[in-house]
Amino acid sequence: MSEITAVKGREILDSRGYPTVEVEVTLASGHTGRMLVPSGVSTGKWEAHELRDGDASRYGGRGVRKAVANVNGELAEAVIGLAADNQAFLDRRMIDLDATAQKSRLGANAILGISFAVARAAAAEAGKPFYRYLADAYRIEGDLRIPLPMVNVMSGGLHAGGKLDVQDYMVVPVGASSYPEALEQVSAVWQATRVVLNASGYEAFLVADEGGLGPALNSNEEGLEILCRSVEQAGLKPGSDIAIALDVASTHFYDPTSNEYVLGADGSRLTSEGMIDRLEKWVSSYPIVSIEDGLAEDDWEGWRRLTERLGERIQVLGDDLFTTNGERIQRGIDLNAANAVLVKSNQIGTLMETVEAIRLAKFAGFRTVISARSGETEDDVLADLAVGLRGGQIKIGSLTRSSRLSKYNRLLRIDEELGGAFEGGKVIGG
Ligand code: PGA
Ligand code: ZN
Repeated sequence: MSEITAVKGREILDSRGYPTVEVEVTLASGHTGRMLVPSGVSTGKWEAHELRDGDASRYGGRGVRKAVANVNGELAEAVIGLAADNQAFLDRRMIDLDATAQKSRLGANAILGISFAVARAAAAEAGKPFYRYLADAYRIEGDLRIPLPMVNVMSGGLHAGGKLDVQDYMVVPVGASSYPEALEQVSAVWQATRVVLNASGYEAFLVADEGGLGPALNSNEEGLEILCRSVEQAGLKPGSDIAIALDVASTHFYDPTSNEYVLGADGSRLTSEGMIDRLEKWVSSYPIVSIEDGLAEDDWEGWRRLTERLGERIQVLGDDLFTTNGERIQRGIDLNAANAVLVKSNQIGTLMETVEAIRLAKFAGFRTVISARSGETEDDVLADLAVGLRGGQIKIGSLTRSSRLSKYNRLLRIDEELGGAFEGGKVIGG
């Protein structure tokens, strides 16, 4: 494997039209790799730092020229000459150079771009598709399979202009026997949801950041009702064909001064215990198989009780809670505070740390869901990452917009290469 000879960063735009970092890496062999870095808005406090310029005269302060300058300057200087297939050494060098806890000096967006671009250049030199390169390099146990998708249908919270508190209403094709069939069923539900919303007097426009519908429903439960009706309208059975997954993203409506969860759409102010009661009621009334961020990012004791009460029945999934951070995942394992980890590589900032997070979760028997951000690009790397690292499940967003479809479509191609290998509902207990 040859060494890195050039690193080039540039500022590009993401699916929200905000600047983000792109990195291209060239190896001595002439092979190249590129990475387009995603970006969230419903971010966790413990995430690695996304470096933005803060200069309000450009993109309202969202420019990433400083991060790009770090890619082209200090970081390039530190990694040029390193072997492209020693990811641990490369990532460690960048982490040490940054020398802050949350990669805030050089920017996790700068570091992640190089980390992945180098791995993709190495895959190109090895003559392997990226998922195969990852599978061979990291050897996480299990067959290579297309992960079970949880697909956004309606959005609330910070991703949509409506009044819903719950951020993501998703469907999970637990009954599908192949990945193409899963997409077909989810698409039918998606079309049916527009019909059901219109018939209920709601305007079903595409307004949300992940390509989903953003209706101004009257309560959070109404969203669950509408999802079930849409599944039936599509000729499918709620529960056995299509189950429901929620990302409550409750950190963003938790009030730390009163220690209450403030559900504006339902007119409720709930304690941690009250919030768990509310989630349990939803789980008992609707075919929910997974709840992400049902409680706030630092409510560890609440998470422990939530898992005690619902962990046998559903997937208790931590996003803002864990932020793909090994130390936080370990704490969650020790406390029994969840049973699954959402994995977003830009929350932690390097490929190596992403792999470590997945290994840690799997070793403890936790499930993993490999996830996109609400701000995405045409880059399809997430599909290869989820297959190659045996993610089991994937969360990309809705079945609209090319920033989402680039990944769903890449999975169709990988599925073909693997001769049809779908994870299916069993990964989530279906
Ligand atoms: P984000 O949202 O990318 O805006 O953080 C996604 C999520 O909360 O899962
Ligand atoms: Zn989330």
